Amino acid sequence: MAAKQKTHFVCQECGYQSASWYGRCPECSSWNSFAEEREVEAVEPGKNRRSQFNPKEVVPVKLHEFVSTDFPRIVFPWKEINRVLGGGLTLGSVVLVAGQPGIGKSTLLLQLFGLLDQEQDQGPLLYISGEESNAQISSRARRLGIAGKRVVLYGQTDIKKIIDQIHHIKPQMVIVDSVQTMFHPDLSSVPGSVSQVREITDHLVRCCKELAIPSFLVGHVTKEGSVAGPKTLEHLVDTVLVFEGDHTHNYRILRSSKNRFGPTDEIGVFEMLSEGLSEVENPSEFFLRERAQNVPGTVVFPMLEGTRPLLIEVQALATDASYGVPMRNAVGFDKNRLTMLLAVLEKRARLNLSNQDVYVNLVGGIRASEPATDLAICAAVISSLVGKVFPEGVVILGELGLTGEVRSVQQISLRLKESKKLGFSKAIVPPISKRSSVENHGMELVEVSSIDVLHSLLVLK
Ligand code: TYD
Ligand code: MG
Repeated sequence: MAAKQKTHFVCQECGYQSASWYGRCPECSSWNSFAEEREVEAVEPGKNRRSQFNPKEVVPVKLHEFVSTDFPRIVFPWKEINRVLGGGLTLGSVVLVAGQPGIGKSTLLLQLFGLLDQEQDQGPLLYISGEESNAQISSRARRLGIAGKRVVLYGQTDIKKIIDQIHHIKPQMVIVDSVQTMFHPDLSSVPGSVSQVREITDHLVRCCKELAIPSFLVGHVTKEGSVAGPKTLEHLVDTVLVFEGDHTHNYRILRSSKNRFGPTDEIGVFEMLSEGLSEVENPSEFFLRERAQNVPGTVVFPMLEGTRPLLIEVQALATDASYGVPMRNAVGFDKNRLTMLLAVLEKRARLNLSNQDVYVNLVGGIRASEPATDLAICAAVISSLVGKVFPEGVVILGELGLTGEVRSVQQISLRLKESKKLGFSKAIVPPISKRSSVENHGMELVEVSSIDVLHSLLVLK
């Protein structure tokens, strides 16, 4: 039997190393930052076990003489998944699918196997699960209508055995669910610890690259939003997809936060139904489908999710405050920014909000962090406050400054295009400078330079 590897403890904040564990780092004073890591022994140059290339084989090449070939990919029948992967799943790549427990990661990946299962046989589809038993997976597959002729279940958590099995059966694709349940027997630390998840990922990456087999690696995120503690995994894998959404809503967003084989910040939108996930091909329509018309306090904002425009409904309610200090609350929008916008409305548009409770809601559980949302929030608040319906067929966007000036936002043309597609005809926008090349896509543009102008526009209408 191989001797246990030597380990030491490393502060994940500053990199301080020590033979013993500390609750608080003596170097940078961070609490709870120590994790056990395996010591990498010095090896002769060229024999480094981590190096993937033999230096003798790799020669420098002139850029203009280099002939690049497209990465071969597996293209799924789902456009939404291909879009986030940058045109399909690249052979040999390792994709980390991160998300909170219960959000639907296992369901999504099993469904991807279901899709491939119906296509031409190109080898087994290996589903390695350390989370659920084979019985649980097969009952879920039955419920999702997946026949699974090519799907092979392997309930194993020892990464060494997993790697041997991948070499043995040479699957078309691998799913490892999840990285936190797998372990390397040479490490004494528990599964899920930083050194374990790093080691697992490192082994999987090398195996997949060697055999040109693509794989998905599931990683649960902690409450703070990081994958397995510090973001140790993210730089080891080729692509990081974050699966988001909240349990009270059906929609889920798959977002690429890192992609070596495609653009980042792409999103795919899915809906969780009783028969599994289904892709949402027209998300704007999806988010506006229940919108009430002819009531004050609702406006449509063309937001940008990564590079994709998405029309969403912004609602506000202003009511007489029942207690001394008025309430301000926002769902899907930063509460502090809402307070700031209300202060600007009071000071620059001379609205009296000090005796009003104000609530803002971005419908459908959407979160918007862009400053471009400002004007839509203000318009919804004004509309609710004065009891006037925001005109139909109009979208609104723009950032608001502290002096009440409306500031320009990025990618206006893209947002206008999407608005036009969904049947809107007019947009309230920031002043457009002569130098910028904004294409209106047939939309009528109303430029507003200040919150005061917006106020008069909405009230006099
Ligand atoms: P799961 O894929 O197990 O989540 P994760 O792997 O991210 O932990 O998803 C579990 C949730 O999805 C569970 O709360 C039930 C829901 N779900 C549906 O709504 N419809 C379905 O068809 C399936 C399979 C799950
Ligand atoms: Mg799961």
